[in-house]
Amino acid sequence: MQIIDSLLPLRSAIEGLRRDGTIALVPTMGALHEGHLTLVREAGKRASHVAVSIFVNPRQFGAGEDLDAYPRQLEADCALLRGENVSLVWAPKPAEMYPQGYATNISVSGVSEGLCGGDRPGHFDGVATVVCKLFNQVLPDFALFGEKDWQQLAVIRRMARDLDLTRPAVGNIIGVPTVREADGLAMSSRNAYLTPSQRAEAATLPRSMRAAIAAIEQGAPVGQTLESLRAKLVAGGFSSVDYAELRDADSLAPLSTLGPNPARLFVAARIGSGRLIDNMAVSPASG
Ligand code: PAF
Repeated sequence: MQIIDSLLPLRSAIEGLRRDGTIALVPTMGALHEGHLTLVREAGKRASHVAVSIFVNPRQFGAGEDLDAYPRQLEADCALLRGENVSLVWAPKPAEMYPQGYATNISVSGVSEGLCGGDRPGHFDGVATVVCKLFNQVLPDFALFGEKDWQQLAVIRRMARDLDLTRPAVGNIIGVPTVREADGLAMSSRNAYLTPSQRAEAATLPRSMRAAIAAIEQGAPVGQTLESLRAKLVAGGFSSVDYAELRDADSLAPLSTLGPNPARLFVAARIGSGRLIDNMAVSPASG
């Protein structure tokens, strides 16, 4: 497994891998957990070589967010990846990614609006920009992302479509279902911010979301159900709820009733110093 931190050696390593077959990229910010390893294993099923990028991207953190606190553990991450079938780790420093004079920003409208885009202005510009650069640097045939960040995946697919990217082609940008802890909490590097009691309370999130989804699928009014979901989260230990919304799974248009198309429930809520996000499928209304 090659570990590379600057562009010139990256380019020659990528050329070598390309001569030998296809490449699947798993972009990450490190602090790897089982969710990331699931992406790595899925990547290995699709391509001859798996490349993992590890870069805590400053441009996707807003003022007052957790850029400084975000866990950085490159050695431990590489040790984990050595146990998987990974050919290359791309771990650039910020100055390699954004050298002096860097001035370009990619901004995707529509799917980036509302939800995390509403609460974290500029966040998805930072994501689209760094992911476009990672795609151009690694030139992967496939790229894999967790569905926990469903809106991020929609932004990246839109960006790839709009900019006519071919490596990877938009159809080869693969979403992988969220990996959950035994109590249902979605795995996230940010779960490390929770104290043991907050961690136990955090399971209220997936539990209350499942109950809300069951109610909506059985015909309960969406607005009222989302209100009671918010109340349950606060009663269960969350300090506030940034959003709890039903949206169309593809266009991300807000829904006030369940229609004939697949929908998803999206929630972001705060507990201690953590902001947890999750989303789950809601089956379309039948008939
Ligand atoms: O999901 C993440 O970890 C990040 O947003 C990504 C896609 C690696 C871009 O920095």
